[in-house]
Amino acid sequence: MVQQIPPGPPVKGLFGNIRAFQQQQIEFLTANRDQYGDLAYIARIGNRRVYQLNHPDDIQMVLVKHPDQVEKTPALKRATRKAIGSGLLTSEGEFHKRQRKLVQPAFHARRIASYADVMVAYAGQLADTWQQGEQRNLAHDMMELTMRIVGKTLFDREVSSEADVIGSAITVGLEATMHRLTHPLVLPEWVPTPTNRLRQQSARLLDETINEIIQSRRQAGEDKGDLLSMLLMAADEDDGGQMNNKQVRDEAMTLFIAGHETTANALSWAFYLLAQHPAVEAKLREEIERVLGGRAPAFADLPNLTYAEQVVREAMRLYPPAWIITRLTTAEMEIRGYRIPKGSMLVLSPYVMHHHPRYWDEPEAFKPERFAAGWEERVPKYAYFPFGGGPRICVGNQFALMEAHLLLVRLMQRAHFDLLPQPAVEMQPLVTLRPRNGIPVRVSLRERVAQPV
Ligand code: HEM
Repeated sequence: MVQQIPPGPPVKGLFGNIRAFQQQQIEFLTANRDQYGDLAYIARIGNRRVYQLNHPDDIQMVLVKHPDQVEKTPALKRATRKAIGSGLLTSEGEFHKRQRKLVQPAFHARRIASYADVMVAYAGQLADTWQQGEQRNLAHDMMELTMRIVGKTLFDREVSSEADVIGSAITVGLEATMHRLTHPLVLPEWVPTPTNRLRQQSARLLDETINEIIQSRRQAGEDKGDLLSMLLMAADEDDGGQMNNKQVRDEAMTLFIAGHETTANALSWAFYLLAQHPAVEAKLREEIERVLGGRAPAFADLPNLTYAEQVVREAMRLYPPAWIITRLTTAEMEIRGYRIPKGSMLVLSPYVMHHHPRYWDEPEAFKPERFAAGWEERVPKYAYFPFGGGPRICVGNQFALMEAHLLLVRLMQRAHFDLLPQPAVEMQPLVTLRPRNGIPVRVSLRERVAQPV
């Protein structure tokens, strides 16, 4: 018999539990998982019910088997419309399908492989600026590095001088977006509050940068072999239609934002974990030395740097950069014998699932060996989903994995990091899972490596 309401924390009033969710999101979701099991009714936003799905089969059902019965939440679309318009991340239905087909070739394995040298070269340049004994905020370094890389590979453009300005504009945007997502009663964007004004300035700055890049490329009209060239040339197989400037802008902005923030966070957390686990670091160093013997890594080395890849995957398990995925149901669904009305919000959290004691032995422990060869058979599908799944799986997942893998190796070659006691490292779950005060470290330099570029 189909039941009406699954168990969950008491939900009172029109915005029941939204405050608990705003204040302690990860703790709230984890407690729900532990107390109420595979499916919980956790909150209300007006007449919309919010359900949390904690079983891999149901996550697979929503993302992979019935993606046609859900869509991205209107709050996400509203909150991100200014910055990324109708880019891949937020578009829907046939339009999304078409755009995805146009963008996808830019991420084909062969194209991506050609970016490896840029990634390694830029990582080497950053490492060469480090001084012996210097204190650094690695999260800041990673953000700037991945932004430079996406700027170069996507737009063939140096963005390092602009990185700080663009970086802070993105931070403002992400904070405002998360605020909008978790506060249903927020003032509209046109009300000139100081936050809204700052946000508008930031959005304008990002916009100008991207538009200027597109404009100058259209004028030059050449294929530079980067992602932007692919976007400008991409034609739909069915009707030969190309993207107009607005669509290219939205896709470029989406890729620019989605393409560096997440990878930077993955790396920051990986270094944070390595700094606390000397045995893992030693094993990683042994592999790097054995495989590379003092030269910089290249794309062809990646299959031999298996432990480094395990470190990346395990860091993304413990600290998934995209820590929460939400959907709205567009049809009535049945989950675990409960009726989920059309218009409900579903919360699927990689963070909660990646720490689920039913699927992970010692879930809080940092053990890269979990991801040794054959892990895909050992770990239930969708107990681990740092890149989402189904037709909306991260379009940049191969790019991101390759980048994190190469950067981790190249930066470890140059330095060892000791964690500083202050500021304390804390999770800040915005749209992505960031370290709130960065990752403060002291750098101990190691020998320089030979780098071809
Ligand atoms: C470690 C790094 C990354 C992580 C953890 C990550 C995670 C994700 C996740 C979970 C989704 C699905 C969201 C959902 O279903 O609601 C997603 C979508 C997306 N990601 Fe990533 N991502 C990463 C890197 C990248 C990179 C490097 C790019 C581009 C250069 C990128 C571009 C995108 C785009 C465009 C989408 C939307 C795809 C669609 O809906 O068709 N991401 N990402």
